[in-house]
Amino acid sequence: MSKKIAVLVGSLRKDSYNLKVAEFFKNLENGDLELEIIDIGHLAHYNEDLDKEPLPEGWEEFRTKIKGADGFLFVTPEYNRSVPSALKNALDIGSRPYGQNAWAGKPGAVVSVSQSALGGFGANHALRQSMVFLDVPLMQQPEAYIGQVQNLLQDDGSFVKDTQEFLKQFMQAYQKWVSNF
Ligand SMILES: Cc1cc2nc3c(=O)[nH]c(=O)nc-3n(C[C@H](O)[C@H](O)[C@H](O)COP(=O)(O)O)c2cc1C
Repeated sequence: MSKKIAVLVGSLRKDSYNLKVAEFFKNLENGDLELEIIDIGHLAHYNEDLDKEPLPEGWEEFRTKIKGADGFLFVTPEYNRSVPSALKNALDIGSRPYGQNAWAGKPGAVVSVSQSALGGFGANHALRQSMVFLDVPLMQQPEAYIGQVQNLLQDDGSFVKDTQEFLKQFMQAYQKWVSNF
C-alpha cells in the first residue's frame, strides 16, 4: 500500500524556488511514496480564540490532511534566519487543539532552499527545533541546504544535473527513512 507524504512548502510565491524543488520531488519515481503538496497560504493566523466551531476556513481540511499523512517533507526558504511565518502558522494549526497534535510520530525531512550562499541553514535548524516538540522524527542525513538556487537552473527551467542527482539521492534516503516507521 502506498504511503501518503504531505509536502509543506514555506514560500507562497508563485515562482518560488522552493516550490520548484517540491515539484521536482513530486515528479520523481517515488516507489511506494505518494507526494502531495499541501496548500498553506490560505490558512488564517492561528488564534486560540478561533479554535472552536465554526473553525476558520480551511483549518479542518488542513488538519484532516495532516492526520491522514504517513510522513512529511518540508521544503522551506529562510526568512530573517528563521522559518517563514506561513509555515510556522501551518505547524501551529496542525498541533492543536491541545492533545490532538496531528504531526506526532510520523517521519519527516527538511530541505532548505535559498538564494544566499548559506542555503537556509537557519530556517532548516529552526524548523528542527519545532519538530522536537511536535514529535516528528526527522531524517538526519543527508542534510539538504540548497544555496544560490538561482544559479542551479538551466534555460529550460530544470535543475542542473548535480542538483538533480543530489535531490534524487535525498529522496532515496527519505524513502528508506519512511520505511522504518
Ligand atoms: C522577508 C524575507 C526575509 C528573507 N530572509 C532571508 C534570510 O534570512 N536568509 C536567506 O538566505 N534568504 C533570505 N531571504 C531571501 C530568500 O532566500 C529568497 O527570497 C528565496 O528565493 C525565497 O524562496 P522562494 O524562492 O521559494 O520564494 C528573505 C526573503 C524575504 C522575502
